[in-house]
Amino acid sequence: MRAHVRVPATSANLGPGFDALGLALALHNEVIAEEGQGVTVRIEGEGADRLARDGNNVVARGVRLAYETAGRPFKGCALTCVNRIPTARGLGSSAAAWVGGLLAGNALAGAPLSKETLLALAARAEGHPDNVAAAIFGGLTVSCGTSEGVIAVALPVPPSLVWVVLVPEVTSSTAEARALLPQSVPRVDAVFNVQRVALLLASLQTARPAPLATALDDRLHQPYRLKLFPWLPEVAAAARAAGALGCVLSGAGPSLLAVVAGDGGPVARAMETTLRKAGVSGSARALAVDVDGATSQIR
Ligand code: HSE
Repeated sequence: MRAHVRVPATSANLGPGFDALGLALALHNEVIAEEGQGVTVRIEGEGADRLARDGNNVVARGVRLAYETAGRPFKGCALTCVNRIPTARGLGSSAAAWVGGLLAGNALAGAPLSKETLLALAARAEGHPDNVAAAIFGGLTVSCGTSEGVIAVALPVPPSLVWVVLVPEVTSSTAEARALLPQSVPRVDAVFNVQRVALLLASLQTARPAPLATALDDRLHQPYRLKLFPWLPEVAAAARAAGALGCVLSGAGPSLLAVVAGDGGPVARAMETTLRKAGVSGSARALAVDVDGATSQIR
């Protein structure tokens, strides 16, 4: 009996929605898992040269966590991971690993855990709920941590919008990018973000893209992260000049996400060119929204 799991990439924050918004993108990792004695991990694609191949592998830890939560003894598993999500780039590769492992473990154990339990486990493991919620539910998700777990709501995304992702050829650690953030912020900045995240959701839900040009601004995390990504303002300005409504850090970076109401090609090229001028190479392309979220099957 094998579990086949497919998990989308995710872009968290979408500008002002720090630790609250996530968007699932049509770029998927796959996990094929079966029970075994001890842990073996075969990795193809992204991270194959770096990721752990023993019980420390995050997908394997997810399988174990699902078994333990379900009260089943975990003896081991044989995993094949097909990784298409670039690692350490702000596209939810670690969320995909936790979700992939948890869903695989849950499927092998006979699906005893609900999506809500899997979400709570994944959010606790990640330390923030935004990527894992989008990875589990698909589409645009709003997630909210509570003392009992995580409440997540998936919303439709206007099909007219094009999402361009620029992936620089440098990596960044989420922990490092979070350590740069202050413990408290001025009220004026909190209000700035509350207004924009509300405008962002209103604009997407009414399919009126014009307000996005304002709604994608942020004062809670991006200004502090410029230390790591000093080229962000220039690349974002180039994206807007090429027709994007806005351009934001994808999650904790270094990838960028531009929103376009039209052709994404010129925006992608402008982002790549401007990044290269700043001394960093990278490639940009439009990605469709994944509306299904993670899926698991027993075959
Ligand atoms: N909300 C998280 C952060 C996302 O910005 O730190 C990390 O992928």
